[in-house]
Amino acid sequence: MLHVARIRALAGLTLVLLSACAGVRDTAEETASAQALAEPCLATPAEPEGANYLPDAPFKDVIYPPGMRGVRLVMSGTIFADDCRTPLDGAIMDVWQVDAQGHYDFSDRFVLRGKVRTDERGRYQFETIVPAQYGSRPPHMHLKISHPDAAILTTQLYFLGNDNGGVNPALVLGGRRDDGAIYATFDFVLGR
Ligand SMILES: [Fe+2]
Repeated sequence: MLHVARIRALAGLTLVLLSACAGVRDTAEETASAQALAEPCLATPAEPEGANYLPDAPFKDVIYPPGMRGVRLVMSGTIFADDCRTPLDGAIMDVWQVDAQGHYDFSDRFVLRGKVRTDERGRYQFETIVPAQYGSRPPHMHLKISHPDAAILTTQLYFLGNDNGGVNPALVLGGRRDDGAIYATFDFVLGR
């Protein structure tokens, strides 16, 4: 039985699907179809880039190295144009985050840094680990998304269940646990 709970944030801008038994691909497609109907249509909120971005991260579907400690997180979703309906084929998502001890890597190994590209349906997927809290910041993931037909979006995602005081609720990510991993879906809308 498909059990999906939808949480709408900022008047339907962002849909986070929490599912006990839906597959990742099913969840992504549910999100995409629901997002396309969401009103009003607003771009995903931007957040500061911060001081820890490195521009030359390689393309990779798994951004943590083999054997790294932490809870595995499988992220997927769709990137839409500013009409909230047109999927952006070939959008590039650049991700960077700390590890499970709260440390950024600045080596040429680009640990927990990487780029993925959307497919013809605007979909992306990558694997990482859940980042730790560091300093005064709640756990978060940085993203920079670009496409020739859209404005660059630099933002951050936060995680449900933490003290996210003060962060935009439209950027809080939910997910479902399955076999020790977390599967999360998040759609983005790029502005012009
Ligand atoms: Fe950060």
